[in-house]
Amino acid sequence: MRKIKVAVIGCGTIANHAHIPSYMANDNAEIIYFCDIILERAEAAVKQYGCGIAIENYMTALQDPDIDAISVCTPNNCHSIITIDALRYGKHVLCEKPAARTYEEALEMQKAQAQYNKVLNIGVVNRFNSGVNKLKELIDSGELGDIYQVYVSFRSHRSIPGLGGAFTTKSIAGGGVLIDWGVHFLDIVMYCCGDPMPVTVSSEAFCELGKDLNSYTYKDMWAGPPKADGIYDVEDAITGIIRTKGPIITFNGAWAQNIGKNEMYIDFMGTKAGIRLQYGADFIKYGSQNGMLTETLYTINSDNMFQNEIDAFIECIENNIKLPSHIDTTIITAKMMDAIYKSADLHQEMKL
Ligand SMILES: NC(=O)c1ccc[n+]([C@@H]2O[C@H](COP(=O)([O-])OP(=O)(O)OC[C@H]3O[C@@H](n4cnc5c(N)ncnc54)[C@H](O)[C@@H]3O)[C@@H](O)[C@H]2O)c1
Repeated sequence: MRKIKVAVIGCGTIANHAHIPSYMANDNAEIIYFCDIILERAEAAVKQYGCGIAIENYMTALQDPDIDAISVCTPNNCHSIITIDALRYGKHVLCEKPAARTYEEALEMQKAQAQYNKVLNIGVVNRFNSGVNKLKELIDSGELGDIYQVYVSFRSHRSIPGLGGAFTTKSIAGGGVLIDWGVHFLDIVMYCCGDPMPVTVSSEAFCELGKDLNSYTYKDMWAGPPKADGIYDVEDAITGIIRTKGPIITFNGAWAQNIGKNEMYIDFMGTKAGIRLQYGADFIKYGSQNGMLTETLYTINSDNMFQNEIDAFIECIENNIKLPSHIDTTIITAKMMDAIYKSADLHQEMKL
């Protein structure tokens, strides 16, 4: 069988940690191009993985009729442009999360998907996590009763990424901790609760701890060293409430807060039982049986959700399957995040 021929656009962290190794491990996929505007990064990939051609301009890959699919692994400001160009050239697309910087951009992507009728999946990789899928199965089976409230905490003590760089510059990233981390957490909630339509949101956002770029003291700084002359105009903390046609969602998120330790979990509160999911790890089901309180620990032995995601992408191209990560489903989170940011700007509740 002919392999699916792939171009990876953007050869930075997520490409090297997830997309490239996963394509390499998939027998039905073959990477033909590594593309990065910093050509040395594409060249380094060619050398490291022993295949493909290094290119600087993604149009080279799009204009090659042999290419079937692309992974968009660039910063958020390029997601919609590259995705729409790729769809126009008849390529299937897996675009990293968030879909785009704004809901408007995500809508343009969705329109292009419908127009050119190629796959467009968003990198909401937790939908391919075995633990998350087990949790969803428990909710769907009714074991928790009705889920009436969900509490989401994606908070770190002091961990603003690459202060002054792409992650803290609104024109590049579209936002701060909500669009970067929150998107994964809200997506898990949406997925596990059956993608309930949001109705209203109310939120407040803060940009406090890192705003003096020179005096921010931190524990971790991933995504590069601080740039003292860079930009920091996104939120480092955010809180709010989302009413949906399903459960009420309340959330607290922070790249940096003076809280001592990181708190990365989601509580699903059901009428019969509840679950606390530690992000990327185990979960505990809290319930009761025969007059006794019960705690059941679910541990997932080993799981490579990125491999599952890439395998599913390749398979859905071959078999024309619509995945739960399709833009039609995941765009709801883009709409919700847009309303959350508007609510925080206007200090008022927004209707969706
Ligand atoms: N799913 C996840 O858990 C996860 C984790 C990390 C990052 N991400 C997402 O992946 C994306 C990239 O993040 P990263 O941490 O890998 O960033 P990164 O900065 O490490 O890598 C991005 C690369 O894209 C290149 N690039 C920029 N514009 C380009 C263009 N027009 N054409 C080709 N290459 C271009 C840059 O030179 C850089 O090498 C972001 O959208 C981020 O939100 C997702």
